[in-house]
Amino acid sequence: MGITRGFGVDIGGSGIKGGLVDLEAGALDGERMRIPTPQPSTPEAVAEVVAEIVEKFNWDGPVGVTLPCVVKHGVALSAANVDKGWINTNAQELFAKRLKRKPEDIVVMNDADAAGIAEMTFGAGKGHEGLVVLLTFGTGIGSAVFLDGQLVPNTEFGHLEVDGHDAESRAAASVKEEQDLSWEEWTPLVSRYVNVLENLIWPDLVIAGGGVSKKAHKWLPLLKVRTEVVAAALKNDAGIVGAAVAAAHGIHH
Ligand code: BGC
Repeated sequence: MGITRGFGVDIGGSGIKGGLVDLEAGALDGERMRIPTPQPSTPEAVAEVVAEIVEKFNWDGPVGVTLPCVVKHGVALSAANVDKGWINTNAQELFAKRLKRKPEDIVVMNDADAAGIAEMTFGAGKGHEGLVVLLTFGTGIGSAVFLDGQLVPNTEFGHLEVDGHDAESRAAASVKEEQDLSWEEWTPLVSRYVNVLENLIWPDLVIAGGGVSKKAHKWLPLLKVRTEVVAAALKNDAGIVGAAVAAAHGIHH
C-alpha cells in the first residue's frame, strides 16, 4: 500500500493555511487551518506559525511547504510579496529545525508550482499533455509550466513586462480588490497579460487558479485570448495539496 495521508502548508501574502491531505482523493482530509500571515512576514515569524499549524494537527510525518518565492534546493531566492529577509534563506533547514524533522522530510517549493502539481495530478490539468500553464491570481500572479505533465519549476511569469509594467502590478486579483474594479474592468487587464504570455510560449491550455478561480464563471467568459482557459478545480486548496504530494513522495525542486 502507498502513502495515503500527507500534510501541506501554503504560505501566502495574507494567510498561512495548512491541513491534512488525502493523497488518493487529492483533497483536504478534514478542515484546514488558516492564520493571518505575521507582519512583517520574516522567516522566523512565519516558521512559528507553520509550527503552530502542524502541531495543532498532531502531524509527525513529512511536511510540504509553499512559499511565494523562487525556491531552489530548499533555498528561497526571491521575495516579491513577502519580507525580503526570505531571500537566500534556507527554508528547508529553517522548517526542519523548527518542526524537529530531518531536512529530507521537508519539501519547500514555489506556491504556484505546488498548486500546479495538484491541478495536474487531480484537477483541471489531469491527463493533459502538451504545454499547460497554471496561473494563480492572488496578491501577485504565480505561474507553473508543465510539458507533458512534467513541471518546469520557478517560471515567474507573473513578472513578465506588460506595456512597461510588472504584469502582476496590473492584473493580479489584489489589483481588482484595491481599485475596486468590476469584472468587466479587471478582465481586459488579464486578457492583455495572457496575450503577452501566449505570444511568447504558446500554451495548449491555461488553468486559472487563485482565490478568484472560485468566481471563474464571472470572468472567464469575458476573456479575449487565443488559448483555451479553464478554471482550476482545487480552488484555494491546490497549494496545500500539491505541497503535501511533493513531500510524501520526496520530490525536491
Ligand atoms: C512571486 C511568485 C509567486 C507569485 C504568487 C509572485 O510575486 O514572485 O514566486 O508564485 O507571486 O504568490
